[in-house]
Amino acid sequence: MRIIAVGILFLCFSIFSSLSSTVSYAKLPPRFPSSVVRPVQLSLATKRGTKLYKAKYFTQILDHFNFNPKSYQTFQHRYLINDTYWGGPKKNSPIFVYTGNEGDIEWFAQNTGFMFDVAPYFKALLVFVEHRFYGKSIPFGGDKDIAYSNASTVGYLTSTQALADYATLIIDLKKNLTAVDSPVVVFGGSYGGMLAAWFRLKYPHIAIGALASSAPILNFENITSPYSFNNIITQDFRSESENCYKVIKGSWEQIEDTGSRSGGLELLRKSFRICKNYIDADALESWLTTAFIYTAMTDYPTPTNFLNPLPAYPVKQMCKAIDDPTAGNDTFAKLYGAANVYYNHTGTATCFNLAYSPDPHGLDLWSWQACTEMIMPTDGNNQDSIFPESQWSYSQRAAVCKGFYGVDPRPNWITAEFGGHDISRVLKRFGSNIIFYNGLRDPWSGGGVLKNISKTIVAIVAEQGAHHVDLRFATSQDPKWLQQVREREVKIISNWISQYYQDLAHHS
Ligand SMILES: *[C@@H]1O[C@H](CO)[C@@H](O)[C@H](O)[C@H]1NC(C)=O
Ligand SMILES: *[C@@H]1O[C@H](CO)[C@@H](O)[C@H](O)[C@H]1NC(C)=O
Ligand SMILES: *[C@@H]1O[C@H](CO)[C@@H](O)[C@H](O)[C@H]1NC(C)=O
Ligand SMILES: *[C@@H]1O[C@H](CO)[C@@H](O)[C@H](O)[C@H]1NC(C)=O
Ligand SMILES: *[C@@H]1O[C@H](CO)[C@@H](O)[C@H](O)[C@H]1NC(C)=O
Ligand SMILES: *[C@@H]1O[C@H](CO)[C@@H](O)[C@H](O)[C@H]1NC(C)=O
Ligand SMILES: *[C@@H]1O[C@H](CO)[C@@H](O)[C@H](O)[C@H]1NC(C)=O
Repeated sequence: MRIIAVGILFLCFSIFSSLSSTVSYAKLPPRFPSSVVRPVQLSLATKRGTKLYKAKYFTQILDHFNFNPKSYQTFQHRYLINDTYWGGPKKNSPIFVYTGNEGDIEWFAQNTGFMFDVAPYFKALLVFVEHRFYGKSIPFGGDKDIAYSNASTVGYLTSTQALADYATLIIDLKKNLTAVDSPVVVFGGSYGGMLAAWFRLKYPHIAIGALASSAPILNFENITSPYSFNNIITQDFRSESENCYKVIKGSWEQIEDTGSRSGGLELLRKSFRICKNYIDADALESWLTTAFIYTAMTDYPTPTNFLNPLPAYPVKQMCKAIDDPTAGNDTFAKLYGAANVYYNHTGTATCFNLAYSPDPHGLDLWSWQACTEMIMPTDGNNQDSIFPESQWSYSQRAAVCKGFYGVDPRPNWITAEFGGHDISRVLKRFGSNIIFYNGLRDPWSGGGVLKNISKTIVAIVAEQGAHHVDLRFATSQDPKWLQQVREREVKIISNWISQYYQDLAHHS
């Protein structure tokens, strides 16, 4: 039985997504692939981005943690800035910094409307800092062929280096703006949310607080169950209808059986309207799995275009297609209908392309991070899972990483560096001013902080929420609960800033 190894990425699949016990390394694309799974159309449609900010570059140090002369190399580090609403340095008006995650920073800025929405209220300067090795922040002269070539160069891609980048950049920017006393609040979603929370803990002298949205800082081995991620996806679909869950659950075996019959692949290709260039049953299953995972993650209450263009409540829409009585007993027709929700909402796809192509948001290099420090077990499937039953296997991951990058993962490094075990007990008397938002429909919420830890390290939990939905631009159709989440966040951040101004006044 095929093992579906999924979900190790926040936003994109990696090599692992298409790996099964039967797939050989030889089948993998030559390097740093994401998978055969690709949306049909690019969703970088939000070209409004050009008007939201200006891009700037900062000369950044390649290696913050080493005085070997080789480490003094630098690279051009991109950040985006919007000062339209800023109250300026004389008033010590705040600076809101997004700690970029594993992709093009423009894409994250465009999907973090919350910061734009609240900037006028706070008179805040907005800064979005790109994560090294992604987007246009490529070390080694901006040459991806060199930067991504092997561990000798891509080895500088780590979360600790990225956090140090943010620290040095923010300090320098404040100095340039003569805004040394302006309070900085960091924001981030997903891996960016993990970075925001860690940044507050590691650099309390630079950021007065962090909004860590959908940040699964606990999704590491022996803290969060490897079944948690897929259990939540299962629950999402099951909550729409038992039939929807059963049809999806039953489909995997049918696809495999069909795929192994003579003429079966052609039947699958036609049933799912896959382009002529490429089809195999594993790739098809990965492609469907991607659709279910990402739809669960982005089960937003309004139409969105984050990973792909989607209608409001897309999980419900998928189940509607599956429960459609006119599809009769034809499982493939039902699943095709569900896939259409994720891959063809705009109705422009002529066929679905399963062949590998680079991720449109430049997320592919996450596979390096997932092979080194970000060992986040998500792909266990228990008996009830909507995906085929399987066990999370660290040794399988390690073997793939060794074969692919020649590296041995360090599965305990993140928890050694940032903590995670017994987090309530640890942070109860250390740290302050962190908001952990989680939406319980988001598969990553299982690895999030779901309980208040102290008066100032608080959990905001939205039962109906999905992956960092709070950070999106507000719309007139937002449900009440979402408005309330954002109101609470604004109120808490206001308190941090008032407190900071009080402290500042009393000491000067
Ligand atoms: C800042 O963002 C606002 C949208 O909230 C936009 O109207 C304005 O042009 C942006 N300013 C800059 C300098 O990019
Ligand atoms: C690693 O990449 C660098 C830069 O492209 C190259 O000079 C070096 O030969 C490569 N090393 C190996 C072992 O492939
Ligand atoms: C600060 O100003 C210096 C001198 O103009 C410039 O080189 C540097 O990039 C600026 N820092 C940032 C963060 O933009
Ligand atoms: C998790 O715990 C098990 C049992 O104690 C241990 O064998 C394993 O090495 C631990 N995994 C990690 C990543 O620490
Ligand atoms: C679907 O299958 C069930 C049982 O296998 C059968 O009773 C029913 O008639 C079928 N419906 C259609 C539309 O084929
Ligand atoms: C995409 O949707 C349009 C409109 O519903 C439909 O005509 C087209 O066949 C769909 N594409 C695929 C590949 O199914
Ligand atoms: C955290 O505490 C606040 C009150 O300070 C409360 O409103 C909220 O429900 C608590 N959050 C959780 C997840 O229990």
